[in-house]
Amino acid sequence: MNDDTDGGVDDEMTDRLIEKLSPARRIRLLTGATTWRTAAEPDIGLGQLVLSDGPAGVRGESWDERRTSALLPSASALGALWDEELLERLGGLLATEAARKGVDVVLAPTLNLHRSPLGGRHFECFSEDPELTGRTGAALIRGIQAHKVAATAKHFVANDAETDRLTVDVRVAERVLREVYLAPFEAAVEAGVWLVMAAYNSVNGTTMTASDLLGNVLKDEWGFDGAVVSDWAALRTAEEPARAALDLAMPGPHSPWAESLAAAVADGRVPLEAVDDKVRRLLRLAGRVGALGPGAPRRGPAVSVRDTRALLRRAVAAGSVLVRNSGDVLPLDPAALSTVAVIGAHAATPRVQGGGSAGVHPSGVVTPLDGIRTRLRGRARVLHAPGPSLGVPPAPVDADRCTDPRTDTPGVLVRLLDEHGRELHAEHRLSGRQLEPTLVPGAHTVEISAVLRPRCGGEWTFGVGGFGRMTILLDEQVLLDDDFPCRTDDPAVVHVTPPLHTVKAVLAPRRPVVLVARRELAAGTGRATILAAAPPEEDPDAALAAAVDAARRADAAVVFVGTTEHTETEGHDRTGLALGGRQDALVRAVAAVNPRTVVVVNSGGPVELPWREEVAAVLLAWFPGQEAGGGIADVLFGHAEPGGRLPTTWAASLADAPVTATRPAADGTLEYTEGLHIGHRAWLRAGRTPAYWFGHGLGYTTWAYESVAAPEQVAAGSGFTVRVGLRNTGRRAGREVVQVYLACPGSAVDRPERWFAGYAAVRAEPGGTAIAEVAVPARALRYWSEADGGWRTEPGTYRLLVGRSAGDVRWEDSLTVTEEGGGEVG
Ligand code: BGC
Repeated sequence: MNDDTDGGVDDEMTDRLIEKLSPARRIRLLTGATTWRTAAEPDIGLGQLVLSDGPAGVRGESWDERRTSALLPSASALGALWDEELLERLGGLLATEAARKGVDVVLAPTLNLHRSPLGGRHFECFSEDPELTGRTGAALIRGIQAHKVAATAKHFVANDAETDRLTVDVRVAERVLREVYLAPFEAAVEAGVWLVMAAYNSVNGTTMTASDLLGNVLKDEWGFDGAVVSDWAALRTAEEPARAALDLAMPGPHSPWAESLAAAVADGRVPLEAVDDKVRRLLRLAGRVGALGPGAPRRGPAVSVRDTRALLRRAVAAGSVLVRNSGDVLPLDPAALSTVAVIGAHAATPRVQGGGSAGVHPSGVVTPLDGIRTRLRGRARVLHAPGPSLGVPPAPVDADRCTDPRTDTPGVLVRLLDEHGRELHAEHRLSGRQLEPTLVPGAHTVEISAVLRPRCGGEWTFGVGGFGRMTILLDEQVLLDDDFPCRTDDPAVVHVTPPLHTVKAVLAPRRPVVLVARRELAAGTGRATILAAAPPEEDPDAALAAAVDAARRADAAVVFVGTTEHTETEGHDRTGLALGGRQDALVRAVAAVNPRTVVVVNSGGPVELPWREEVAAVLLAWFPGQEAGGGIADVLFGHAEPGGRLPTTWAASLADAPVTATRPAADGTLEYTEGLHIGHRAWLRAGRTPAYWFGHGLGYTTWAYESVAAPEQVAAGSGFTVRVGLRNTGRRAGREVVQVYLACPGSAVDRPERWFAGYAAVRAEPGGTAIAEVAVPARALRYWSEADGGWRTEPGTYRLLVGRSAGDVRWEDSLTVTEEGGGEVG
């Protein structure tokens, strides 16, 4: 690494600094000082480093709804961009946010793969494909780190599902690890990433914080010179991880290293050199982010709120994937419309991010309904019908629905009480979901209270979330009082998404009631306390009929469907891919009365769309972040082209999907029996056709693939370029993503049927031409030989394929790969 990226701190200097510290003071640096900070050592000029989640925005040190963050589209939407320039800009935005919040290290990107569509954290990962994941992650890393903020490649490695994620032992062949699951991390190291996070799970019998892969592969073989941080509380023992290549245990101040590493070093079970190497890496990291020595203050690029919003809105449109557009129903022409029906619960309450540690508080959200209304104002009438409720547990109360009983201002009152119920602290807050109340000495109970003015009468549902002893009171009457023990160690569940316990009560319309939730703060019950409320459910048949009526009266119907925070969240895998509630029935009923029915899917990962051939258009909008509505409206009405291509193959139904297993066997192991064959590779191998292939996505124009220039021969060890001549044959300017795949039918080793090797995007005006230059790296041809313990490229005849998706090949020819040393030909 050069001086530029080291902030002027070289090894000689760090070694001199280390020598000034006693072993105990060195060891102290290896555990966090708090949940989000590392320890400082003022004697050597080392400041604390602040680390923060998460991939879709930078939360900062606290879970406080008043400290808002710019909320990006979730990772699966970024995986759909296929646009490294835009990804770097989004990385720059994360760096700006980090600087604004005093954050040195952003805990992103997540480089695990979409192995199973059921993966609960699918929304937080980019793609099913290692090459696309690597390129997407590398671009984001470059964008973040260009501004002296560290990125973190996580979770190293094979943390591709959530079930038993703290303990599962993933069994995966070495070749598969190398070619599939490690590959995106290797790309991250090549991009110069400064941190890698060791995952909770084990791989082939060893927990990742103590795995050889950290030392042998990541550091020695790939030359990673940054630091390895544990996932939060992933470190369970002191010695093996200390001898292995883990560098930093988070969070702190308690950790097995804080407790017993000093003794292990003192009696020689862990060499002091191992400690020194860890400290050296932490100092190097501190140097890079400007936290060692006087260093210039770090800054991200200055971005105005207006520019931030414009960038995020552009990203929504650029990542949206149009998978169907029958009769070119999209874009809708506002001048030709008089009434548009906007249908579905997600129209007014979209899901803009996934659940879990990645969650941030956006300063505001433009809902799809807002976005469409703004776009059509003065031009066409918007009829809004939410359709049947999704049947989900009640949402936390908030400033839109409640007031603080003490100040009568929108929001809630949060109090800390001592064991006699005396108030120790009180503050006005904006949300009934409190993940980090201000803790004061002697606090025994957290209390959230709110005045609710029910807009309708009937049977309401109230909920309290968290662990331990909890109570709900309605006008001082106890509705629920019970003990809910915590039976998991998963920090995301314990502290962020604890279960909600509900109870019902009848309210009179508009008569204010005081709601109170209390939770006792006992050890091991986590930090979260939630007070939730939901109005009585409208009759689902009537709600469906109202939606159908709106659709019948409109020139076009836009139906928003999607998942809920109860199905796509960290800490749990999904159990199915069906849309919840009566959403399928809603779409079918609307499509039956309006031929111009456009469905917008608001989910982080694949869902089943059984009606997809019965509607005119289907647009996948993912979890689009705070500017959801503006970006979606831009696409619907043609101000922007839907720019995304699928980063992951979508099954028509879960039963068809070749790889789904996320649940470990009784012995705690999860076998990756499918080997190299995940995603489109698995579909091709099984000879099955999915609903939509990896790489698929329609724009608003059409393209002719007019010519392909590719080498006929290439030497092993060399990359090559495929030049594809394209003509825009439609009536709008557009962007086309040209993809190159490889196959090796006669291979002597197991090979995917076809594998993704590279892409390039071009733009052209109507009638215009462009040449897409797809650079295929040498690594696309190699395989990992377990026998030789190294990379090999098999000489012979390959197939070179150019197409618009893994299932839509426009050109193919053979490619001869010769023995190493022949150089690129053609
Ligand atoms: C997650 C990480 C996250 C960390 C800190 C863990 O539970 O797996 O992705 O960075 O918590 O919030």
